[in-house]
Amino acid sequence: MATSKREAELKQRIDPGKVPRHIAIIMDGNGRWAVEKGLPRQEGHRQGVETVRDTVRCANDLGIGILTLFAFSTENWQRPAWEVNYLMSLPEKYFQSELPELIRNNVRVRLIGDKARLPGKVRKAVEDGSEATKNNTGMILNFALNYGGRSEILRAVNDLLSDAAAGNVKGRIDENKFSAYLYTAGLPDPDLLIRTGAEKRISNFLLWQLAYAELWFSNVYWPDFSRLHLIEAVHDYQMRKRRFGKL
Ligand code: IPE
Ligand code: IPE
Ligand code: MG
Repeated sequence: MATSKREAELKQRIDPGKVPRHIAIIMDGNGRWAVEKGLPRQEGHRQGVETVRDTVRCANDLGIGILTLFAFSTENWQRPAWEVNYLMSLPEKYFQSELPELIRNNVRVRLIGDKARLPGKVRKAVEDGSEATKNNTGMILNFALNYGGRSEILRAVNDLLSDAAAGNVKGRIDENKFSAYLYTAGLPDPDLLIRTGAEKRISNFLLWQLAYAELWFSNVYWPDFSRLHLIEAVHDYQMRKRRFGKL
C-alpha cells in the first residue's frame, strides 16, 4: 500500500481524544544510516535534523501536548571531537531555519539538561528559541541536550539538600515534591517512549519519568523515521491497555 494511503488510513483510526499527552523520543541511528550509504556520519546528523522538523510538525498536527527529543546525552561527550563539534553546530542551524514556523505554530521550546557545560552558542540558540516562544500556548517542545537521567536525579537531590539546609523544605519528600526538582517540573511523565535505530535500551534517558511509559522500538534509523512511523507509534499506543499495576 502506498505510504500516503496507509498514513491517511491509520490517521483516521487515531482517536484524537486519546493521543499521548507526552511523547519522548530517543533519536538514534544517524551514524549507521550514513555509514551504510557510504556517507560521513555528519550527513546522518544533518538528515536527522530534517526528521526533527517533520516530526515536530506531525506531532503538532496530531495534537500532542509535549514532545521531548533526546538530542545529546551526557555520555555523548565521549565521541570524537569532530563529531561532538558537528552535533553542537546543529541547534543554531535548526533554530535559524525553524524558529519562525515554531512561533507561527504556537510551539513552546524548552531546554532540558545541564546547560552549564554546553558551548555558549548552543545555549544561546536554545535560550533565544525558548525566549521567543515563551508566550506560546501550544505544544511544548523539550530539547534534551547534555541530558543524563542519573545526573538529573542527582542534581535534584543536591538542590533538595540545599533547600532543606536553608529551611525551605517542609515535611517528607514524596514523588510530587521530588518531581518538582527535575528538569520536567510541572509536566506530566511521557506516556509513550519511541526509540529508533534498533537498540532496545533507555541509554540514561528520563529514568524517573519513564517509570510507566509505553515503549515503542523501531529498527528504522532516525533519518528515515517519517510521519507514518509516528502515526503508527501513536496508533499502537492507543491499542495498549495501560494497567499501572491495577487489574
Ligand atoms: C543519534 O544517532 C544521534 C546522537 C546520539 C547524537 P547516533 O549518532 O547515535 O547514530 P548511531 O547509533 O551511531 O547509528
Ligand atoms: C542515545 O543514543 C542518545 C541520543 C539519542 C542523544 P546513543 O547512540 O548515544 O546511545 P547508546 O550509546 O547506543 O546507548
Ligand atoms: Mg547511537
